[in-house]
Amino acid sequence: MTTTRTQVAIVGGGPAGLLLSHLLHVADIDSIVLDTRTHHRIATTHRAGILEQDSVRLLTDSGASDRVLVDGHEHEGIDLRFDGVSHRIDFRRHADASCWLYPQTDVFLDLHACRTRDDGDLRYGLGDTDIHDVDDHPYVTYTDDDGSVHRVDADIVVGADGSRSMCRASVRGATQYFREYPFAWFGVMVAAPPSAPELIYARHRDGFALISQRTADVQRMYFQCDAAEDPSTWSDDRIWEQLRTRLSGHDGFELEHGAVLEKSVLPFRSFVQTPLRSGRLLLVGDAGHTVPPTGAKGLNLALADVRVLAEVLERAFTTADFDVLSQYSDRALARVWKAQHFSYWMTTMLHRLPDTSDFDEQRQLAELTSIVGSDSGSAYLAEGYTGWPTTGRP
Ligand code: DHB
Repeated sequence: MTTTRTQVAIVGGGPAGLLLSHLLHVADIDSIVLDTRTHHRIATTHRAGILEQDSVRLLTDSGASDRVLVDGHEHEGIDLRFDGVSHRIDFRRHADASCWLYPQTDVFLDLHACRTRDDGDLRYGLGDTDIHDVDDHPYVTYTDDDGSVHRVDADIVVGADGSRSMCRASVRGATQYFREYPFAWFGVMVAAPPSAPELIYARHRDGFALISQRTADVQRMYFQCDAAEDPSTWSDDRIWEQLRTRLSGHDGFELEHGAVLEKSVLPFRSFVQTPLRSGRLLLVGDAGHTVPPTGAKGLNLALADVRVLAEVLERAFTTADFDVLSQYSDRALARVWKAQHFSYWMTTMLHRLPDTSDFDEQRQLAELTSIVGSDSGSAYLAEGYTGWPTTGRP
């Protein structure tokens, strides 16, 4: 068995783990990033595509990446579409803010390039990762390709290992909050030009649909489906029929279409585990909480966790006082619960529940009408969508 020592062992080499490693490096704290997935697998898994403005600021101000400012697209609003008409929520006007279309896979590639440039210790494609003794002398073990066991001793272990987190189970006495939804999203990547300059969130009697974007020639779209749906049984025609119906209307909007390049069904649930810390183990991002995808909060929340955690860890190492670790969970969770509410609210305002009554439908339409027809309603959505400020303590 080989043994390495580092200050912070980060389990999970997605955007959250890599950003933490970068922020620690800037603060002169060393870390090792460990992941069972390969770089290729992470780089080719489609995730959401919207960054809040403070996520962009964090990436650019920390020197991690400014490619987002070059290759990303700033969006100053979204359309809410219902009853066959689109209504724009103007982020500039209502929240003096914007967000950026920039896919999570690009955030990953940028952060990986940044850590590689700075000689970061990144270990991907590992087997059998496990964490031990998180209360006193934490360490991580893993096996490599030829089956030999490696051990990484650390002062701190961070679980940034996503929604199927292995680290999560090591938080003692945790409370778990769950909400399941009786539907899922059917996600497609299509070869087509954009149908509109900004994203369209559409509510239709048959269910929700979202028209997002990727490049000039490739678009990302989603529609509400049954959680047990098998995407391989869906023809392109059937997919387009669903999307066209849900975007149909009488304001002249037309959906651009083309070949379906990829299709998958996305899980849909809300989850929070508290606290996000046990001894020398701390959880960030999906390892500690999951939001449904409506509103694209998942990555943004993970980056906001990392920002708080990097600050707390820097204080712990510079003062040699690890009691400050106790501040992390409550500070991160204040934002997590706001985002839980926002994602739940966007979801329930736009989706069709299986047992929806005529009353529920009219009430849902009245809610949407109230939001788009009121400055304070629109401001509430705009503030939540573009992200609450991360400066200062929540
Ligand atoms: C995307 C995903 C979302 O969940 C969302 O709310 C907006 C955009 C996307 O993948 O582009």
